Amino acid sequence: MKKEDYKFSFEVYDAIDELAEADAVLLRQAREVTQFAHAPYSHFRVGAVAALENGQIVTGTNQENASFPIGLCAERVMLASSSSLFPGIPIKTIAISYNNEKGDSSHPISPCGLCRQSLLEYEAKFKEPIRIILGGLQGKVYIIEKADMLLPLSFTANELNV
Ligand code: THU
Repeated sequence: MKKEDYKFSFEVYDAIDELAEADAVLLRQAREVTQFAHAPYSHFRVGAVAALENGQIVTGTNQENASFPIGLCAERVMLASSSSLFPGIPIKTIAISYNNEKGDSSHPISPCGLCRQSLLEYEAKFKEPIRIILGGLQGKVYIIEKADMLLPLSFTANELNV
């Protein structure tokens, strides 16, 4: 038996004003689009914004449903939109923010497991890293250099021989 290690590191900033301007703009947009979430059940509004290689910006917000399991996370709404509107264009950077109307919104949240798997699909498709900026409405900001760092030992298309 031997042990394998997985090293995960990410950048931590005390606040948005420490970010490079382009990253700060993207995070501000993610904060703004939280208002477009359809979240009448959780009151937890999530905004995801992608900056594409061609300079386009694509947004997504969580879309809940009275039939709860149907609900979609902001990240996957954004990824589906990006892939539908600009199918051949890689995503360079995404920013994710949220507004927890019933609680605190001052720390970063990171994508759920489903969204991590979905992010990986597009990162693998374009063979280019997707940077991820995470931040609440205020407070610390995390930057992760590559989406696959969030999902070690992941299941990928390689297993399918396609
Ligand atoms: N949600 C997202 O949109 N993204 C995440 O990464 C985590 C959770 C949404 C799903 C649901 O509408 C609400 O937040 C509460 O879980």
